[in-house]
Amino acid sequence: MSESVSSIRVDLGERSYDVRVGSGVRAELPQQVDALGEGDVLVVHDGPDRPWANEAIEALRRAGRRVVECILPAGEEHKDIRTVEKIWDAALEGEIDRRGIVLGIGGGVVGDMTAFAASTLLRGVRLGQLPTTLLSMVDSSVGGKTGVNRPQGKNLVGTFYQPSFVLCDVDTLTTLPRGERIAGLAEVVKSAWIDSEQSVVMLERDASSLREGDAAATIRAIEMSVRLKARIVSEDEQETGTRMLLNFGHTVGHAIEAALEYRGIRHGEGVALGMIAALRLSAALGENEAGKQQEARLVALLRELGLPIHLDDYLDENVSRHLISDKKRRGSSIRFVLPGPPGALEIRSIPVETIREALFR
Ligand code: GLY
Repeated sequence: MSESVSSIRVDLGERSYDVRVGSGVRAELPQQVDALGEGDVLVVHDGPDRPWANEAIEALRRAGRRVVECILPAGEEHKDIRTVEKIWDAALEGEIDRRGIVLGIGGGVVGDMTAFAASTLLRGVRLGQLPTTLLSMVDSSVGGKTGVNRPQGKNLVGTFYQPSFVLCDVDTLTTLPRGERIAGLAEVVKSAWIDSEQSVVMLERDASSLREGDAAATIRAIEMSVRLKARIVSEDEQETGTRMLLNFGHTVGHAIEAALEYRGIRHGEGVALGMIAALRLSAALGENEAGKQQEARLVALLRELGLPIHLDDYLDENVSRHLISDKKRRGSSIRFVLPGPPGALEIRSIPVETIREALFR
């Protein structure tokens, strides 16, 4: 294991936990599980992560743990309650009891469902996360949001349930398709813009290394994102205020994804376009040159990272319709994360018509 493993604490009183970030940090799995005491382990994963899951299962068995395996069908289309039932049933048939530990190995879909299953199984058993995508390392595996999709929309059923540990091992990103890794960088940019000028400057400096998957630059980016997320979640676990900032870029991003029926666009790519839209809206509301400069700065960074930047190619009537039906809408306004320069964002209620006028010109 490399020297440079960092520990980031998510401070939530008795439910506090550490997110460990580094190369080779997955080797800590048996000791992380040992720290939780006795109990059998249910390892949940899907097909693409089989090699990492096999390695984890062998390591746990060598350390004397009884392990039950649950393999899920891969893909967002399986993020539903039937798949969660598979996890519940694997645990119950495998005689996992209340001392049991459920371990999710995979991307955001596996992580969210595994966490939901753990939060409800026997009224809640311990949870560990070993995220294997950049997106899940920098966002979904940390902070305790769990959930499944319903026909009415994404993630509409879920719980807040914090893991006991998270291991973000950059080695697992070496098997991630390049496009998926790059899409995950959009959430890194989001975190940096929420965090500070210094974090955005770091990404600007590291952009080409990040695009090529350089391990040291990727670790720095994950650490920055997880630190920011840990701070926000510690302040506002249940998203009554500050945590909403993490939705920066998501309102228009989701509308673009939904208009394309989630095909041909990755979540991170939608977020990249959504952040450009949010800066454009800020500039229009402030009617200022400084706002336009911020948009140009963000576009330059996204381009350097290999993310989509041609917002106007995506904005059509269909996207506009999806914006109007946004779940964050209250009456004729939408709760919108409005960015200023890095480190200065605010949540404002904006009339839908104002958004349409600023973006669909
Ligand atoms: N992904 C946004 C949040 O965890 O609040």
